[in-house]
Amino acid sequence: MERKSILLRISTIAMNVPETVAIIMDGNGRWAKAKGLPRTAGHKKGADQIRTIALEANRLHVKKLILYAFSTENWKRPEDEISYLCKLPGIFFSKFINELMEKNIRVTFAGELERFPKETQKVIRKAVDQTKKNTGLELCIAINYGARREIVLGIKKYACEVLNKERENDLSEEEFSSYLFIPENVDLLIRTSGEERISNFLLWQIAYAELIFTSVAWPDFDEEQFALCIKEYDQRDRRFGGLK
Ligand code: IPE
Ligand code: IPE
Ligand code: MG
Repeated sequence: MERKSILLRISTIAMNVPETVAIIMDGNGRWAKAKGLPRTAGHKKGADQIRTIALEANRLHVKKLILYAFSTENWKRPEDEISYLCKLPGIFFSKFINELMEKNIRVTFAGELERFPKETQKVIRKAVDQTKKNTGLELCIAINYGARREIVLGIKKYACEVLNKERENDLSEEEFSSYLFIPENVDLLIRTSGEERISNFLLWQIAYAELIFTSVAWPDFDEEQFALCIKEYDQRDRRFGGLK
């Protein structure tokens, strides 16, 4: 590693590190296209970057890292691309599960797994189960996830409980969060590859998140890029509507 990047990584130690980081891992297809490769090659390299960034987030003591891996809108893609994306969790976990265990990383997921092939569901549930006692970083994979769907499901669940008289008809913002796949507030949201939109990710949880849009494609987003984002976050003045 170059001296500059070593210094950058070391300097993050004294920083105000966000507790919850969410990343829209975008640009796999364009990265591959620029290299004359099929889109799937971008997804493959992208999956390796999940390992890199999870290890770095764990090292920096981020509590929860939420990665957008497949949106409810991604079903619109060609069948062969979807079928490759369904195989990726299997490839990823067979390569990295031991390392995730060694580093004490806990895997969770957000979204509706049921629409995926049985085998895909099985490998994801197995990784969740295998790592459930780990106490380091929570690595949450958002898969078949859509924020609007998440909110609608939360409202339905709440309404059912009220109708069944399991709870009172009153609801605070904090209580509502507990009806979602992801109850935490996001501190930092990063989107790679130049697009500056949210694409139906974590609409409720990013109410006061710091946003960083970088032009770097996800397959090129490494520890150094991540450290730069943490540094940028550290320099932001978060006022939450108040004064300082
Ligand atoms: C992100 O990369 C991965 C998924 C959405 C599954 P893309 O596949 O969206 O790559 P681009 O945006 O077409 O370059
Ligand atoms: C968002 O990226 C979804 C994921 C990264 C999984 P997309 O590439 O699907 O989003 P759009 O189409 O550019 O909004
Ligand atoms: Mg994209």
